[in-house]
Amino acid sequence: MQTTFSKLSDILIQHADIWRESPFSKPKPSWLECYPKLQDWLLTLSDEDVDCLQGDDNLLCQQIAPYFPVAKEILTLIQLPLCEQKTSVERSYVWQRDVPGRKAEQIEAFAVATGEVISPLIEWCSGKLHLGRYLAEQFKVPVLGLEINYRLVQQANQLAHRMHSDARVEQCDVLSVEASQALNEQQHAIALHACGGLHVSLLEGCVKKQVKRITLAPCCYHRFNQGDVYQPLSSIAKRSNLILNNDDLRSAVRQSNTAAERERVKRKKLQMWRLGFDQVQRDVRGVNEYLPVPSLSVRLLDMGFSQFCLHVADIKKISLPDGLDFGNYEARGEKRFFEYARYELVRMTFRRALECWLVLDKVLFLQESGYQCSLSQFCAVTLTPRNLLIDAFRFHDEI
Ligand SMILES: C[S@@+](CC[C@H](N)C(=O)[O-])C[C@H]1O[C@@H](n2cnc3c(N)ncnc32)[C@H](O)[C@@H]1O
Repeated sequence: MQTTFSKLSDILIQHADIWRESPFSKPKPSWLECYPKLQDWLLTLSDEDVDCLQGDDNLLCQQIAPYFPVAKEILTLIQLPLCEQKTSVERSYVWQRDVPGRKAEQIEAFAVATGEVISPLIEWCSGKLHLGRYLAEQFKVPVLGLEINYRLVQQANQLAHRMHSDARVEQCDVLSVEASQALNEQQHAIALHACGGLHVSLLEGCVKKQVKRITLAPCCYHRFNQGDVYQPLSSIAKRSNLILNNDDLRSAVRQSNTAAERERVKRKKLQMWRLGFDQVQRDVRGVNEYLPVPSLSVRLLDMGFSQFCLHVADIKKISLPDGLDFGNYEARGEKRFFEYARYELVRMTFRRALECWLVLDKVLFLQESGYQCSLSQFCAVTLTPRNLLIDAFRFHDEI
């Protein structure tokens, strides 16, 4: 894993100017001219090709590699085994009643990958404790969930009560001292989709308290972090020259293949309009530079493109002259979106590499701290793109 980590570091450092430069703000990224064949190929892709490639890291790396050779190496480095089925779990109909379909499938996959549970569980950022209640029922172990949102805490405890389960949730900020005090060496800590700083606090707390086993599926690496740049955990990452800011961390989760089709169509339209407005503001201000605009609701699509431009201009305190040809700007926005979506694929080639780098940092930290770790995919990316699973046993306990 150290070798993979070092190779990923080298690739990410060498190509930082490519994956850091957004074709949304820069219509012709500076690296394009170094790869003329790549540009030609990208512009032959249909919208369906683009959607398909942006949701499938392996396919993207395979198809882009003839025009962008580093993708071949990335493809090798991001291969992680699919979890072996360590146990068969039973479908729980009582439990399933209250759990949305996709979440239920993720939890069942997480449970299968986790295998037999023998120690008391502590679930970090447990939400409604769907995972904890499921494992409590399957393995008859005590479960304590920690969750900050009081409404979710109440709902979780009501659901547990309804299932006649002893599993329970306490309201707790997992970044607080109280949370780390809840950890002990007899426990098995679990977390499904605990965000950036929250899963870091779990790992640090577990190492400090020598928690017996940790099973974690991380997500949203850019959230709840301290400071402006990512603070690596492992000594090898601390020595690395790769310094990641919050935008970089966000790039590790830039994928929308699980959003509903209707939602995706709307989001694309909004991006087209934002790019159309970008053309407007460049011309009106006479400055050929991107102007950052705050995030905007898809509900603005109801107002029509010209009103949209007036609305955004108002936010940015720009006065638009009369007689602007909005139809023309809307068409230019569509054209820019066409190119943006294709150039963005080149950035996306590095997405899983960034995610693997971040997760390997945690794995290497756990290894340095006396844990035996595996890193795998607990389900298909179509079920959730955040499908990586760290499973760590305190070294002298592993059989
Ligand atoms: C992405 S959800 C995952 C919930 C659950 N594990 C699941 O898979 O359904 C993240 C959860 O973390 C909780 N959370 C956010 N910040 C927290 C904090 N500082 N302490 C405890 N929980 C927190 C949120 O309220 C939310 O329920």
